[in-house]
Amino acid sequence: MGVFTSLDDPSSTGHEQVVFCQDTQTGLRAIIGIYSTALGPALGGTRFYPYASEEAALADVLDLSRGMAYKNALAGLDLGGGKAVIWGDPDQLKSEPLLRAYGRFVESLNGRYYTACDVGTYVADMDVIARETRFVTGRSVEHGGAGDSSVLTAWGVFQGMRAAAEHVWGAPTLNGRRVGVAGLGKVGKHLTRHLLDDHAEVVATDVDPRAREWVRANHPQVELVDDAAALVAADIDVYAPCALGGALDDDTVPALRAKVVAGAANNQLAHPGIEKLLADRGILYAPDYVVNAGGVIQVADEIEGFNFERARLRATRIYDTTRQILRLADDEGVPPAVAADRLAERRMAEVGRLRTIHLR
Ligand SMILES: NC(=O)c1ccc[n+]([C@@H]2O[C@H](COP(=O)([O-])OP(=O)(O)OC[C@H]3O[C@@H](n4cnc5c(N)ncnc54)[C@H](O)[C@@H]3O)[C@@H](O)[C@H]2O)c1
Repeated sequence: MGVFTSLDDPSSTGHEQVVFCQDTQTGLRAIIGIYSTALGPALGGTRFYPYASEEAALADVLDLSRGMAYKNALAGLDLGGGKAVIWGDPDQLKSEPLLRAYGRFVESLNGRYYTACDVGTYVADMDVIARETRFVTGRSVEHGGAGDSSVLTAWGVFQGMRAAAEHVWGAPTLNGRRVGVAGLGKVGKHLTRHLLDDHAEVVATDVDPRAREWVRANHPQVELVDDAAALVAADIDVYAPCALGGALDDDTVPALRAKVVAGAANNQLAHPGIEKLLADRGILYAPDYVVNAGGVIQVADEIEGFNFERARLRATRIYDTTRQILRLADDEGVPPAVAADRLAERRMAEVGRLRTIHLR
């Protein structure tokens, strides 16, 4: 999945629709990118970020919306891929009128795009946006929303990790394995609990002293190391990046001692080619957008009227999807990241085609 900077040549991006929204009074400048609605309405969060330029904002929304199409396809959702960016500093610009103006633009797409939280936007913001549009997820529980999506993100990562463990060691469990968790934020904390429940040994790190304190107080059996570099070099079986993107790069992959990588962070591969480097070192990489889809599964469930148990069952299927991808990768002799893209494209084409069967 590349980075695009221009719509001059629409065939180079493949996006269906890109909408620029402006409201000068509130300072709103937003871009909504719809990559594909082959499987249903496009779903993806709104990133509120102080981009250096409009080109940078456009490049990000094109890249992210494409990624959502692949993620939603493999999550088994009847949803396409989209994403939005609001260009500006949320600390300076975010206001009720701005969010509501944005909500009206989302509404104007009449259900072709559903929004959700992303970097710089929170559950409370979705509740405000929802005062102007029906096409919003990630609202608070009090407003019929799914609440904190990290709950099922962590559950899904754990399921993907089980599938990877089975592929490498023959049993779908982390029992007795040493798992390194980099980042003890919302997802990392839940993941640590699932791993301990499964009788794994957990080694962890976080730059935030409060997160380290949380571990010491709640799970003293977890070993803490100084930083992510120490975790990469540690004697671990599984590495779970749960902090920022780009965790797997030209420095970390050669140093990594784990046999499996499965974590929540988005965009773990620092650049194309890293998936090959991992494969060459005999490290099984469970693609990030496959195993971290529990969050989007959780918020997507709001569209049907949120039911936690139904969403949890769907997120549990990340185990089956990861298994399928790892087998396909072996059969086709490609890294799992390539197999995942192929499977997503296949579902978009095969299921998307059914809409050509005319019903009325
Ligand atoms: N929350 C979700 O539902 C969800 C869904 C899909 C993907 N993700 C991705 O998973 C990752 C974690 O999400 P989260 O919601 O837990 O975020 P978070 O902000 O709650 O937690 C991130 C944690 O990583 C720590 N961290 C940052 N830099 C670090 C470093 N260099 N070394 C070690 N620790 C570091 C932070 O201190 C923080 O505790 C992010 O990449 C996010 O994009 C989250």
